[in-house]
Amino acid sequence: ARPLAVAIAGLGTVGAGVAKLLRDNAELIAARAGRPIAVTAVSSRDRTRDRGVPVAGLRWYEDAVAIAADPAIDVVVETIGGSEGPARALVEAAIAAGKPVVTANKALLAVHGAALAEQAEARGVTLAFEAAVAGGIPAIKALREGLAANRISRVAGILNGTCNYILTTMRERGLQFAEVLADAQRLGYAEADPAFDIDGVDAAHKLAILAALAFGRPVDLGAVHIEGIREVSALDIELAEELGYRIKLLGIAKREESGISTRVHPCMVPKAAAIGRVEGVFNAVVAEGDFVGRVMLEGRGAGAGPTASAVVADLIDLARGRLTPVWGAATDALSHAPSLPMEKH
Ligand code: HSE
Repeated sequence: ARPLAVAIAGLGTVGAGVAKLLRDNAELIAARAGRPIAVTAVSSRDRTRDRGVPVAGLRWYEDAVAIAADPAIDVVVETIGGSEGPARALVEAAIAAGKPVVTANKALLAVHGAALAEQAEARGVTLAFEAAVAGGIPAIKALREGLAANRISRVAGILNGTCNYILTTMRERGLQFAEVLADAQRLGYAEADPAFDIDGVDAAHKLAILAALAFGRPVDLGAVHIEGIREVSALDIELAEELGYRIKLLGIAKREESGISTRVHPCMVPKAAAIGRVEGVFNAVVAEGDFVGRVMLEGRGAGAGPTASAVVADLIDLARGRLTPVWGAATDALSHAPSLPMEKH
């Protein structure tokens, strides 16, 4: 069969990871996808940087948005990042041109997801985003497919690998968070602006996406209570440890009588509990459904390999023609209930 021609826009940690995974596992991916998946074009500002994958022979776009108009491209992989700028322009242009998009961009989806979903559905185009939430954990598939029969009462988790890595390393080595942040950046876990990680914004983006899927309605980011880990000290962690607790940055979205409450903040969790044992760059996603009960998925939430794994899962779905509506059929009776504003303190 004819290969699926992919353009990767943005050759940072994730984009380069996708190119590497498609190369290294090409044979098994082709078998599972029913056809080869080939990167034929890329877009990035820096042509010369060594990314550990050969990209020199590919069609190179200076302007990512121009990819949308290339008739030789079947799918756009957007790994530029950011809720505005070239990422948003490219995704909108691709959808308008009828090209499916696979994105790892949680900020874009959390801010513009509802509008993009509407555009994609009106155009009959797939917008896939497994990689946008919790890296390698198939959380989107789990909510949309595996748990599709349930009314979800709560979706929560450790949704930022950088924060969990920092909190874990602070505990293990008795260091302050600023001393560990550089490590996380070097490992390729942190956002371009690491304030998004440590101030809880990145976790809020992912929580908004999970909640939209779980409860079948867009979540107003402005209504999410957000508190990060800047104020957590090595002493807090040590005292919590003595009491039998770990400090974790959790995102929690809950069905309440009058709507959905959403919040991100550091929590004390028992260290013997499953979620207390999720350490380092690992994330966890917990969902509670009326028939299934509690489900927890754990895996690496950031980094090239895990995030590429999720991007390529979406590409395989596309290659096989398994197309899903953007938010899925998760809509339930609470569809039009408001997000509850949380009191700020
Ligand atoms: N900066 C993010 C994290 C990357 O640390 O979890 C994955 O979205």
